[in-house]
Amino acid sequence: MSSNDINSTLVENRLFPPSEEFVANARIKPADFTALHKQAEDDYEGFWANQAKQNIDWHKPFTTVLDDSNAPHYQWFTDGELNLSYNCIDKHLATQADKTAIIFEGEKGDTRHISYQQLHDDVCQFANGMKARGIKKGDRVIIYMPMTAEAVIAMQACARIGAIHSVVFGGFSADSLRDRIDDAGAVMLITADGGHRGGKIVELKEAADKSLAKAGSTIENVIVLKRTGHDINMQQGRDHWWHDIIEDQSTECEPEWVNATHPLFLLYTSGSTGKPKGIQHSTAGYLLNAIVTNLWVFDLQDKDIFWCTADVGWITGHTYVAFGPLAAGSTVVIYEGAPVVPDAGRFWKICEELKVTIFYTAPTAIRALMKFGDEFPNKYDLSSIRLLGTVGEPINPEAWMWYHKVIGKERCPIVDTWWQTETGANMIAPIPGAVSTKPGSCTLPLPGIIADVVNEQGESITEANKGGYLVIRKPFPSMLQTVWGDDQRYVDTYFPKFDGKYYLAGDSARRDADGYFWIMGRIDDVVNISGHRLGTMEVESALVAHERVVEAAVVSRPHEVKGEAIVAFVICQGERPVGEEAEKMVQELRAWVGEQIGAIAKPDDIRFADGLPKTRSGKIMRRLLRNIARGEEITQDISTLENEGVVKQLQGKE
Ligand code: PRX
Repeated sequence: MSSNDINSTLVENRLFPPSEEFVANARIKPADFTALHKQAEDDYEGFWANQAKQNIDWHKPFTTVLDDSNAPHYQWFTDGELNLSYNCIDKHLATQADKTAIIFEGEKGDTRHISYQQLHDDVCQFANGMKARGIKKGDRVIIYMPMTAEAVIAMQACARIGAIHSVVFGGFSADSLRDRIDDAGAVMLITADGGHRGGKIVELKEAADKSLAKAGSTIENVIVLKRTGHDINMQQGRDHWWHDIIEDQSTECEPEWVNATHPLFLLYTSGSTGKPKGIQHSTAGYLLNAIVTNLWVFDLQDKDIFWCTADVGWITGHTYVAFGPLAAGSTVVIYEGAPVVPDAGRFWKICEELKVTIFYTAPTAIRALMKFGDEFPNKYDLSSIRLLGTVGEPINPEAWMWYHKVIGKERCPIVDTWWQTETGANMIAPIPGAVSTKPGSCTLPLPGIIADVVNEQGESITEANKGGYLVIRKPFPSMLQTVWGDDQRYVDTYFPKFDGKYYLAGDSARRDADGYFWIMGRIDDVVNISGHRLGTMEVESALVAHERVVEAAVVSRPHEVKGEAIVAFVICQGERPVGEEAEKMVQELRAWVGEQIGAIAKPDDIRFADGLPKTRSGKIMRRLLRNIARGEEITQDISTLENEGVVKQLQGKE
């Protein structure tokens, strides 16, 4: 596969309808699909109100459906009251207390099956333990955990008592963790001694200690799960073992009934400016789209075993691991470790052993595993799988076809789901029993999601295959509520155009002659590395924080496995590093960025020059830098550059 394949979706016109058997057993058949769309078109608010009544157990029913009096802030089901944990757990106890809710598998092979009743008891005990340490409704709690059942238990426990959790991905550094703690003003940190990943221990507690060492932290209590059992530091008074705080706690904990718009969680994500922003989600609206997409897109049914491989540190791990599938009463798989331990067959081995029926992962994982060859998946019986999914970045047709043939054995529909941290749940995705798929397209918007591709004036682009801004024209229940602590940033980022009427997703897209959506990429300075979002600004800020770096510009280039790779152009103090010194400096800067942000942000290439190419007004010529990063011929006029020589240096030719 060449990196150009990633962009070759333009020529794709193969159509894959679901099999008759799939359609016959699907929750949503073609006629249901048409009916759902019609209901949403005829009475938009009525449609969502019905869905909310059908799918959520309300403590107090709502009378208002959508309050748009403070646009572009939209509130759904405003006077209703509910509890999310109740909806994910207690709701099912009367009918399926013994059904397995979570199957956990550690990287080293240890497994645990947790029934709905056991999950209820574990969540209640932990919630009571948190309460005993003073946590109450509205408090912010940071979760910095390995991918374990306890991470989900902690999230559910927060929801049960109305505390607002913010999960920080375990791969983020101590500094990134601290930024999020400070921004959220969190009072509790839930972590573990470590986690197993890639055959090593991820030193979570050590990073947590480092992040709290800097003065002025708001954290009062740290709860530590014993996962690895290796030696760690415990600070008396501040740090408590998980097993100690649940000891003697009751397995009953009355849910805190919260208002529909009570913040359920914050999740930090990158934008084109400044530090990552805390995307704030509501309780009811978020829960509603989480449930309906699990039912519609993943066709979740009673016997399904659903494995979404995302870490709970990302939105996908919230909506399709910790909340949505449980709210739908399903069984979810949680795997702690890396996909290649002990070898590249691990995912497929888990699918065989646990009889996974629905498998959802990122194109980057598919591409990485595809490289190891067909013999790994072919060693295992994958006949239990009936539906496949992808998320996070465009999937190139070659990877799609491999997924379809080698994993799905040409039997399983593939749902390519477009959505974002901000949208909380799938927005544009095939409903598998009703929509035929095309490799590389996320197909059609879901019922009640009014997505469009518009031009600069906000007019719908009707011409086939003409690119434009991807927008959502009407507020939808799971839409972010605001940016935590910076409401202006919410307005400026998501409603900067079209008189503030449409939600601007930040992606460009086109529609083909069948009306299918094709995502073309970001319109801002956000890059997508292995399905993870990073602002180029964030990496630039990390680089310039290094004592030797004067200036830095970061762009991306296509990458065979990761989708995009980071290329950094760096200007150092003093002489431009060359030869061995440059090599040493590259290693140092990569490690430095890893420490500042996390391993995913380490630049793949770092190039040094005496200056950066800039326009006369002093703006960095990013398009030129992108050309250089991609090794493309330079067609732009560079004669006005103050120092044309830097282009040669950045190309590595001098
Ligand atoms: O650019 C789109 C890309 O990922 C961005 C959202 O990133 P994040 O908030 O981290 O959420 C990722 C998981 C939902 C989008 O703006 N993206 C997401 N899904 C797809 C996609 N690009 C193409 N196809 C997709 N299916």
